[in-house]
Amino acid sequence: MGVASLGYIGFEVSDLKAWDGYLTGFLGLMRGRGNGTSARYRMDDRAFRIQLEQGKADDISFIGLEVETLEGLQELRERLEKAGVRHSPASDNLKKERGVRDLLVLTDPAGLQVEVYVGATALTNVPFNSPAGVSGFMTGGQGAGHVVLASEKMDEVRDFYTRLLGFRLSDTIGIPISPDFTLVLEFYHCNPRHHTLALAPMPAPKRLHHFMVEMATLDDVGFAMDRIGECGVKQTMTLGKHSNDQMVSFYAATPSGFEVEVGTAGIEVHDDVWRVTHHEVTSMWGHKRV
Ligand SMILES: [Fe+2]
Repeated sequence: MGVASLGYIGFEVSDLKAWDGYLTGFLGLMRGRGNGTSARYRMDDRAFRIQLEQGKADDISFIGLEVETLEGLQELRERLEKAGVRHSPASDNLKKERGVRDLLVLTDPAGLQVEVYVGATALTNVPFNSPAGVSGFMTGGQGAGHVVLASEKMDEVRDFYTRLLGFRLSDTIGIPISPDFTLVLEFYHCNPRHHTLALAPMPAPKRLHHFMVEMATLDDVGFAMDRIGECGVKQTMTLGKHSNDQMVSFYAATPSGFEVEVGTAGIEVHDDVWRVTHHEVTSMWGHKRV
C-alpha cells in the first residue's frame, strides 16, 4: 500500500501579503487558522490545504502525502527501513503544527521535504466558505490537486515516488524541443485523480513548475478567469483542454513566479481498467502562451 493523496502543499514565499490576496481573492481559498509564522488556507473541511511561510525561496518547500490508516503508515515505515531510506519521525511539535496524528519526514532525491502522515484535522464544525464564491474544490479522496516538479535526477526521483511511495504511471507526454530531443513528461496517480504528481526531467530555476487546483464546475473556472483583471493577475496560458487528463483549465503566474493551473472536469483513473498511453501534445485545444 502506498500513499493515498496529496494532502497539503507548503510554499516558502517572499510576499505573504500578495499571496494572501492571490489565494483568497483570486483562487477563492478560505483563510484558515495560521500558526505563528505561517499562514494557512482551506479548500474544504480540512484545517488547511496550503501553507505559506515567509522566506526567499519563492518555491514549493514541502508536500504532505496522506496515508489512509495508522497501519498503512507503519507498513510504509517498514518498507523505507528495508530499502535503507533515511527518514525521521516527526517531533511532537511538527505533528501538532501540522495537526496530524502521526508523520514521517523524508527528503526526495531532488531535496524536497516530503511529509507522509495520517490523521489530518478536519474542521467540519467550520464549513468551507470561499471568499470569492467558488462553489467548491474537487478534493476528498483525490486530495488537494497536483504538483509538477522539475528535476534532473529523474531516475532517482521516479524510483522514490513509485517504488517507495506507491505512485503509478498514468501516461506520458512527449514535447519536441529540437529535431533530435523530445522532453518526456511523466504523470503519476495515487488515487483516481489522473495525476497527483508529474515529473519533468529538466533543469529549472525552481523545483515547482506549477500546482493545480480543480474547481467543481466550469462556471467556477470562468468566474476565476473574470477575476484575472480585477485581481491584477498575469494569465500565462489561455483556456485549453489537456490531452491526457482532459482537464479544462487556464494558467496564471503566482506572486512567486511559478504558475497555478485552475481547472475542472479532469478524468478519473481506475487501476483495474486503466491503460498507460503516450501523448504527442500537451493539449487537445487551447493552452496558448499569453
Ligand atoms: Fe497541470
